[in-house]
Order: sequence, then C-alpha cells, then structure tokens
Amino acid sequence: MNDNKWWKSAVIYQIYPRSFADSNKDGIGDLQGIISKLDYLQNLGINAVWLSPVCKSPQDDNGYDISDYQDIDPMFGTLGDMEELIEEAGKRNIRIIMDLVLNHSSDEHHWFQEAKKSRENPYHDYYIWKDGAEDVPPNDMRAAFGGSAWEWVPEIKQYYFHQFSVKQPDLNWENPKVRQEIYDMINWWIGKGVGGFRLDVIDQIAKEPDKKITNNGPRLHEFLRELSRETFQKADLVTVGEAWGATTELAKLYSNPDNSELSMVFQFEHICLDQIEGKEKWDLAPLPFLRLKEVFARWQRELQGKGWNSLFWNNHDLPRIVSRWGNDGKYRIESAKMLAILLHGMQGTPYIYQGEELGMTNAVYEIEEYRDIETLNLYRERLEKGYKEENIMDSIHAKSRDNARTPMQWNDGENAGFTDGKPWMKVNPNYKEINAAQQVDDTDSIFGCYKELIRLRKNHPVFIDGDFRMLLNDNENIFAYAREDAGSRLLVICNFYEKTVSCLLDEDELSGKLLISNYKDADQTMILRPYEARMYLQEKKL
Ligand code: NOJ
Repeated sequence: MNDNKWWKSAVIYQIYPRSFADSNKDGIGDLQGIISKLDYLQNLGINAVWLSPVCKSPQDDNGYDISDYQDIDPMFGTLGDMEELIEEAGKRNIRIIMDLVLNHSSDEHHWFQEAKKSRENPYHDYYIWKDGAEDVPPNDMRAAFGGSAWEWVPEIKQYYFHQFSVKQPDLNWENPKVRQEIYDMINWWIGKGVGGFRLDVIDQIAKEPDKKITNNGPRLHEFLRELSRETFQKADLVTVGEAWGATTELAKLYSNPDNSELSMVFQFEHICLDQIEGKEKWDLAPLPFLRLKEVFARWQRELQGKGWNSLFWNNHDLPRIVSRWGNDGKYRIESAKMLAILLHGMQGTPYIYQGEELGMTNAVYEIEEYRDIETLNLYRERLEKGYKEENIMDSIHAKSRDNARTPMQWNDGENAGFTDGKPWMKVNPNYKEINAAQQVDDTDSIFGCYKELIRLRKNHPVFIDGDFRMLLNDNENIFAYAREDAGSRLLVICNFYEKTVSCLLDEDELSGKLLISNYKDADQTMILRPYEARMYLQEKKL
C-alpha cells in the first residue's frame, strides 16, 4: 500500500532543461546550469524535480526522440554531470525524476537502425511494421504532428508506425524482448539513484494499429503491472504517467493504492475544456467555467482513498496559465496567485512548471521565432488547407507549446540571465518586469505565494488527506471548496474573474484563520475583488 508515501506530501517542479539555465554559453540550457540553480529550488521548497528528457537525442522533438536511453545528450552535459546533479540535489533533499519516453524511440536509435535493415534482423520486431505498396499506407491513421502515421521504407518494402514524427518510430510492446530491454534500462537508472519517473504518453504503448487503437489498448494495464513489478516496485519511487485518455475510472487503476501500477497520472480533462468539442486544441473556445468546476470536483471526489491526483496547470506542452485562464495584463500578479491558491489547496501532488512561480506569460511571436515541430507543422498544414494566416497565428499565440518553452527569466540583464550566448529561442521581451531576481526576496511576490503554499502543505495534514467538498456549485464567478479531516477544515475561495463579486457563503462555512491571500488587506467580508483568493484554516477542538 502507498498510504504514507513521500510523494503524497511532495511538491514537484518541472524543468525543461534546454530553456532553464545555460552554463556553457551555447545558448541551450544544460545540467550544470540546473546544478547552479539548485539553491533557488531549495529556497522555493520543492521536493523533487521532473526533468524533461536529457538523454541522447537528435532533438527532432526536443529530446522526446531518444537515440540512447543510457547516455546524456552532449548538449546537456555528460553522465558525470547527471550523477553530480542527482547527488547535489540529494544534499538539498530534492529528488530527480527522469522522463521516460517508452512509446517510441528515435529513428537514430541503434535498435531502429538495425530494424530497418531487413525483415530478418533480430531488432526488426522491436518496431511495428506492415506490408503494403508505396503510396498506399495500411490505413488512414494520422500522426500527432501531422501527416500519415505510416512511413514507407523502400529497402524492405514495409511501412513502420509512428504516432508522432517520422523520426519517432513506435516501439512494439508486444515483443517481450523490447519490454525486457526497457526494464533493464530503467533498473540501471534506479541504480543511479533517481527518485522516480514521468512516463511519456504511457497510455499509448499498447496500441493495435490494425484496429486503429492507440490509447488504452487492451493490454495496457497488463503491461503496466509487469513494468511496475520488474522495476519501480523495487525502490521507493514516484511514478507519474502521461495519460491523455484517462478517465477517473482508469485513473483508479493506474494509481491504485496497492501500488501495482503507478503513483498517479497526468489527466487532461480540465486542460482540454477551452477547445471546440471533438476538434483540435487549436480550435479555440471560451473556458466553460462551470464545467471546469465540475471536472475538478469529480476528480477530487472519485479518487479520494481510491487513487491519487496530480495537480497541474502547466507543462512544456501547454500555454502559460496566467495568460490562458488568468489575466496577463493589469491583474497578472493577483490572477497568478489566485490560480496557485486554487490548485494547491486540493488533494494530490502539485506540479509547478518552471517560471510558473514567477507568473511568466505566453509569448506573442512572428512565425519565424517558433521552434516547436508541432507548431511549425500545424502552420504549414493549415495554410495548405486554406485557413487564414491571421487565424492560424491566433491559435498559435494561444496554444503553441513554445509559450512554455521560452527561456527562464532569471533577471533583467541580457537574455534574462538565461545565457551569455545566443539563446536557442527568443526570450520573452517582458523579462525586465518579470524575473526571479526581482521576486525571490519579496514575500509578497508570486514566488513568495508559491513558497508559502508549499510550506503550508508541509505543515497541515488536511492538505494531504482532507476530503473535498465543492461549494457554490452554480456560481459563475467563484471557485470555492472545503477540505476536511478529523482535526481541521480548510476553506478556499477564489474569484476566477476580473469583476468584483459578493460571495454568498453560509456564516458557518466562512470561519477560521486566514492562511494566505492575494490581497494584503483581505478579511472576512463577503466582497471579492478582481481575482481575489483566500484560504482559511479552522482547527477543530477535539
Ligand atoms: C508528450 C510530450 O510531453 C511531448 O512533448 C512530446 O512531443 C510527445 N509526448 C511525444 O513524445
């Protein structure tokens, strides 16, 4: 059972290494850069760092295309640097979580290089092949980054399957040899002292392309249980799977407290709400606020005691939350804090994506400034389909993954202190106003707010085990909820919008000591100013 697991009271910080801190002036963040910022992370108070992939990779998809799972890409440093990072982080009680990309490898991985040589090659079955004729793919499945999911290899007259770019061939999990190679590799990393793993698109490993099944294939949970038994269960690790197709029912399987699969999953039901239903993320729609409340309430309620939630607004694939659902103009500070307070009072493990703790915003760039394969392919594809350029750019400004990937804003010096070289991607021009140096010593800053939320979580068990009750369900402006355990009751009230509103809570709900707020003079009155958020704690007399 995982009742007392360390990760239940932990806060995890995600680093996108190429955009975090550059130590060697090549314009790309690296492991020594991360090491130089460990004191900053310790000051924030986080317990673990999830590192987006740093293994050897041709970087077609910024490292999510791995050509050697047991080596570090020279762009980021060496295996020695990685060992140093694990050790230095450990000295500060920070664990390092690796990103495992197990659904596919790079086409430059030696397995694939061998696999495509002949049908008889011992590595051929490490990937998914289908016979066919040139220009007549086995079916009409599409890849996530555009184009067909099938790529023809003329030398052996077969297609291989890829759910992402052509340089990311899908691994064949049906082959026990593939699974064994993966387990050996994971155990090797466990031996190096990592604190856990984030598993990239894990719900896509058990695919059946013949039946057009990608997510949640029939053997998925069987594979996951075997994976967990052969690797994770041997150590005290946190594991979080990326599962776009997860429902609460499935999440209870993935994060079963018996520890048979994973610690938790990233689910995306809340994240997909501001798009036209049944369409792509680029097809923008306003956020249906009542649905957002319903989705959070359901996940909180249904996983209570039966699974575990991950809590996040951001990651390297998502736009910045303050621009997305907050206000990155006049109320940037208030709304960034409100979103933090809203999320961090819930049950689950909170994740903070680099720069979120500073209120970093989306970047509005010209197409030439974008670097992301998904964004660039989308731009080309939609232009070809006849979309207006202006509309395509609106979608990109709102949803491009590069919004999250602009360099970290450390100070107001050149390149925001990210690099002394030429940054691989343009720094957001607002770094003079939004940067770490200006916030770290200010308890009233967004950074100060995150730091306090992390401290509160560590000091009050109700954050971890309290049950969840949504309040004011039908209120169109206010997100309010209570968490309660035997000893105390936590109350969180957030005005999600710019309009001042009154909060009609019962007197007996609105009690306790104010723990944190985003207005200095917050009190017990029922009027909530723009984006006002408050958190109260009432200790019960036992
Ligand atoms: C999900 C990752 O988060 C994303 O960045 C990547 O492009 C795809 N998986 C493919 O690995």
